Amino acid sequence: MTARPAGGPPGSSAVEASPGVPAAQAPAPREEDRPAGDANPAVTVPAVAVQGVDKVFPVAGGGATVALAGIELTVAPGEFVSLIGPSGCGKSTLLRLVGDLVEPTRGEVRVFGEPARAARAAQRYGIAFQQAGLLEWRTVAGNVELPLQVHGVSRKERRARARELLDLVGLGDFAGHWPAQLSGGMQQRVAIARALAERPPLLLLDEPFGALDEMTRERMQSELARIRWETGTTVILVTHSIPEAVFLSDRVAVMSPRPGRITDIIDVDLPGRLGPAQAGEGAPAGPAAPGETGGPTADDGDDVREQAAFFAAVTAVREALRAGGAA
Ligand SMILES: Nc1ncnc2c1ncn2[C@@H]1O[C@H](COP(=O)(O)OP(=O)(O)OP(=O)(O)O)[C@@H](O)[C@H]1O
Ligand SMILES: [Mg+2]
Repeated sequence: MTARPAGGPPGSSAVEASPGVPAAQAPAPREEDRPAGDANPAVTVPAVAVQGVDKVFPVAGGGATVALAGIELTVAPGEFVSLIGPSGCGKSTLLRLVGDLVEPTRGEVRVFGEPARAARAAQRYGIAFQQAGLLEWRTVAGNVELPLQVHGVSRKERRARARELLDLVGLGDFAGHWPAQLSGGMQQRVAIARALAERPPLLLLDEPFGALDEMTRERMQSELARIRWETGTTVILVTHSIPEAVFLSDRVAVMSPRPGRITDIIDVDLPGRLGPAQAGEGAPAGPAAPGETGGPTADDGDDVREQAAFFAAVTAVREALRAGGAA
């Protein structure tokens, strides 16, 4: 069961078939990554495959913290998966493992068929954390352009891309502002724009809306849902909020207290969240305007949150957390 029973995730079938969609998101699998004897190039390589991963941190004085134990997680291209669990259960560590910011003690992490290290070198990731982490001495546009500048993209191209991204996150009028002139929510949107600058096929988000008030947070969730539909990006989101996880995700991975394990994975099927393929007339010719293809809009967020299926999924996640020992 997924949120888009008829269409599959964006970035897989419908969206990839569309010319002009910014990310032909999932890089083609390399020959050596395909299973032996598999001659079918259409076989989908997972966006993320975490297999048998443990993470043990040494502690000063000789002890050790077993942060993660026996983690198995596969995320399909275009899928949106949330990680939820009690504080200290290893959510950030798991996200950092996927992003090659820490190494597993045991097991393997592959991203689009490559080891995480190679995926990072190939800039497959966009990462945003709870703190926006903007450079105060660069303008909003300058912050968004930074990763492009680092990778030698021309000034003209950087400008154009920054403008496009700031429009995408609703900050088109703030390109020349300084970070200090923005609210916390606006800074987070800049951080998300920056994370999307290089059209990464995989977005890793660690509590990006944790510091925001409830209403701003819900608006940001709707915007993230829209951005995801428009770009077809695969997303892994760490959150403490059950409604946030349910609203945004195709699946919610529920983790137990330390040592963190994935104790349950809840499929989320919300009829209100229609995908491009369900809009009737096939895929759009390019990135869709909000609402144009049945994708989420800022307005339909409330409808989705008020439906019985939403409450049922929230209850299922809550019960899974309890069963896993989180409460
Ligand atoms: N660099 C590190 N060195 C030592 N221990 C670490 C390190 N990073 C994380 N840990 C430990 O690993 C465990 C998991 O931490 P992690 O930050 O992944 O939890 P979390 O689920 O993200 O928690 P929270 O919800 O509070 O952010 C904790 O016990 C933490 O102390
Ligand atoms: Mg954390």
